[in-house]
Amino acid sequence: MPERFLVTGAYGCIGAWTVRQLVREGVEVIGVDAGDDDHRVRELLDAVEVAAARFVKADVSDPAQVADVFALDPTHVIHLAALQVPGCREDPVLGARVNVVGTAALFAAALAHGLSSPIVYASSVAAFAAADGEGHVPTDPSGQPETHYGVFKIANEGTARVFALENSLASIGLRPSVVYGACRDTGLTSATTAAMRAAAHGSNYTIPFGGSCEFQFAPDAAAAFIAAARAPFTGAAVVNIPGTTLAIEEVVAEIERVVPESAGRIGFEGPPLPFPEALDSSRFRSIVGTVGVTPFGQGVAETVGHFRRSVNRVTRDGRRAQSLVACGGRDTAAASDSSKGPPWPL
Ligand SMILES: NC(=O)c1ccc[n+]([C@@H]2O[C@H](COP(=O)([O-])OP(=O)(O)OC[C@H]3O[C@@H](n4cnc5c(N)ncnc54)[C@H](O)[C@@H]3O)[C@@H](O)[C@H]2O)c1
Repeated sequence: MPERFLVTGAYGCIGAWTVRQLVREGVEVIGVDAGDDDHRVRELLDAVEVAAARFVKADVSDPAQVADVFALDPTHVIHLAALQVPGCREDPVLGARVNVVGTAALFAAALAHGLSSPIVYASSVAAFAAADGEGHVPTDPSGQPETHYGVFKIANEGTARVFALENSLASIGLRPSVVYGACRDTGLTSATTAAMRAAAHGSNYTIPFGGSCEFQFAPDAAAAFIAAARAPFTGAAVVNIPGTTLAIEEVVAEIERVVPESAGRIGFEGPPLPFPEALDSSRFRSIVGTVGVTPFGQGVAETVGHFRRSVNRVTRDGRRAQSLVACGGRDTAAASDSSKGPPWPL
């Protein structure tokens, strides 16, 4: 039977990159999202590619809507739909409904459907506490994350484990760290991509955190989710995705190397993120296999190139404002030297 991928959160950053890779492989895709904002899909796929995917509006926290989606008979499931750290902080009840109830609904529907491939879902580095990384590179979290979002991700890992224990439903949870690249425009850690956009647009930007963290280029993260969905696996595993660990200082230096004229315009200040700066991804390699890790400098160059093309495209056809909104673009070129990124409270 040919592959038919169900991708939830398809209008999100990793979702849009996932849909793009699958469509380019010629694979059938059902993209599910509760929102109407498809700007990332339109930014990353051309019109023919967008038309090749099927998009369905559905709320993953509503079991009836999830059941309707499974009636489309997917062979593989990648569950990405979620509220991120700021959304869960603003409304923990909604966060729990989407992130926890939504994941339970997906698993229950996959079980009822008789899904034979492992259901693949996004956990997060935020499932860890910052202290989990002290003195070593951890593989699994201690269970004491410092955000509601992290607590919900831990709950989902438990949900997956119990579905495997009680129902033999196979799953692989992936814990991305800081995903960067075109169309990474929401969430606590999107500031590093915002800095690349600012450099491309000749603007000023201050990344509102310091320390070191592990980075995954968005297309690499998408490829990791797709590879996991195709892995012959039974049981419930949660794995960390291979990436590149860098200090924020090194991120700024890399941006300046790619965009020399941004020197002195991109900075950072604030405490480190409340997560370990590196995770052990050896379990990913043993369960899923080897996936590519784009060198960080190349990822920055491709991302800057994307933002430059976005500006040029709309400047040419006179729809400048519209284009700058695409992928979170904000033209802050005219802003004062003290313009800063979003003041994410840690
Ligand atoms: N981006 C990162 O750095 C990162 C890091 C760790 C984990 N993750 C996880 O990876 C997944 C994808 O991340 P992303 O950066 O693409 O997120 P995103 O915020 O860009 O996209 C999430 C998508 O989910 C959709 N959504 C929200 N509520 C929904 C609902 N009730 N039903 C259906 N769709 C709904 C949104 O409309 C959005 O399009 C998420 O689960 C996230 O927690 C991301």
